[in-house]
Amino acid sequence: MADWKEIYESRKVSADEAVARIKSGNRVVIGHACGEPSFLVDAMMAHAQDYRDVEIVHMVAMGKCEYCKPEYAANFRHNALFVGGGSREAVFSGRGDYTPSFFFEIPQLFHTTLPVDVAMVSLTPPDEEGNCSLGVSADYDYEAVMTAKTVIAQVNDQMPFTYGKLIPVDKVTCFVEHSAPLIELAPPKIGPVEEAIGRNCASLINDGDTLQLGIGAIPDAVLLFLKDKKDLGIHSEMFSDGVVALAEAGVINNSKKTLHPGKYVANFLMGTKRLYDFVDHNPDVLVLPVDYVNHPVVAAKNDNLVSINSCVQVDLMGQIASESIGFKQISGVGGQVDFIRGAAFSKGGRAIIAMPSTAAKGTVSKIVPLLDEGAAVTTSRNDVDYVVTEYGIAHLKGHTLRDRARALIEIAHPDFQDGLKEEFEKRFHCAY
Ligand code: COA
Repeated sequence: MADWKEIYESRKVSADEAVARIKSGNRVVIGHACGEPSFLVDAMMAHAQDYRDVEIVHMVAMGKCEYCKPEYAANFRHNALFVGGGSREAVFSGRGDYTPSFFFEIPQLFHTTLPVDVAMVSLTPPDEEGNCSLGVSADYDYEAVMTAKTVIAQVNDQMPFTYGKLIPVDKVTCFVEHSAPLIELAPPKIGPVEEAIGRNCASLINDGDTLQLGIGAIPDAVLLFLKDKKDLGIHSEMFSDGVVALAEAGVINNSKKTLHPGKYVANFLMGTKRLYDFVDHNPDVLVLPVDYVNHPVVAAKNDNLVSINSCVQVDLMGQIASESIGFKQISGVGGQVDFIRGAAFSKGGRAIIAMPSTAAKGTVSKIVPLLDEGAAVTTSRNDVDYVVTEYGIAHLKGHTLRDRARALIEIAHPDFQDGLKEEFEKRFHCAY
């Protein structure tokens, strides 16, 4: 780019000037997860009374989510692409909305039903060629920047520079320089249940496999049991600190990957400074848009792809509810089905749903005869492959409904097995 320095300098503004570009009725897409431009979101909130009916589109919101508060109901309406702790109440009470979508299809929505007025993202300072990196979040941020009428960027020199798709400075309407530590995700606490689940999942993973790891205690627990494996690879929606430990131990080296050999591939990253330092200017890490990384056909180009995700409930047919407890939407589909299908199409692939056998302090079984009324089926019984609890492994794909039910009851918590067996006998008209 010829005079990128001039363009950059001429587009530098204060945060107040930048958020004045947001107009009532606009749709504002906020940068995802730990890529949230918190300084800009705070500035927008400081001007809340200047707006009416601004639609906030966000996915995993790791920041304060103040736009979800009842006192801002006239100013902002949240349209969640994934519901989290900060947005559950707003969505449940009707002040906000949830839009179901496979993660890999979200960038496409910006061309169809969700055209973007304003994209607010975090970027690194430009490199010597005038390109900025989206750092820890390329996922939908890339397409939001490419399609938005107005792009407001927080330029954060603490954002790690990652390779993948870079943003030329002339794509950005205004730059707000503000240095701040990134939002961090603390490593989850791992107890005996998570350890047992981790051990069971690890028994399904072979040397040379490529892994997709979901977020939370379960995937991290799985990593703890992979220390004796060799030549593992990463092609994942996201990854966290656990991968860094295995990379440093030489267990993950991506050498056997059939797509992007030698590279860690993800569409976003969530962790602590240890992770952010690992990925900064690391030529072996590619952070790429979600419509590429999560596309089942792309993911499947990795032979021996193993996906590991979690859920809320499994019924005896193997229908997986991962995003709602009855009518209450508590999260979203995210990349779960993208990768379950990617693993299904992958030569040698396996898809694991791993979960504790009980919830709510052991008072309810997560393996149930029927999903709760109102629960959304996230992964269909046709897509499901392995279900894992602390009590073992149930392989469902290719098995009859009767065999599936038996296999699931075997890995249910012992306190709930008698009730499940009674349901089995009623449903299948035979003794357990
Ligand atoms: N009945 C009642 N409550 C249940 C329940 C059930 N069957 N299953 C979970 N819950 C409750 C938990 O007790 C917990 O309540 P709390 O917040 O009051 O403690 C809450 O629901 C969240 O469950 P938890 O098991 O702690 O969640 P998690 O952080 O391990 O995440 C999912 C589990 C299923 C929500 C998460 O994996 C998810 O969103 N999956 C779908 C998206 C996905 O797989 N994306 C791909 C990878 S990023």
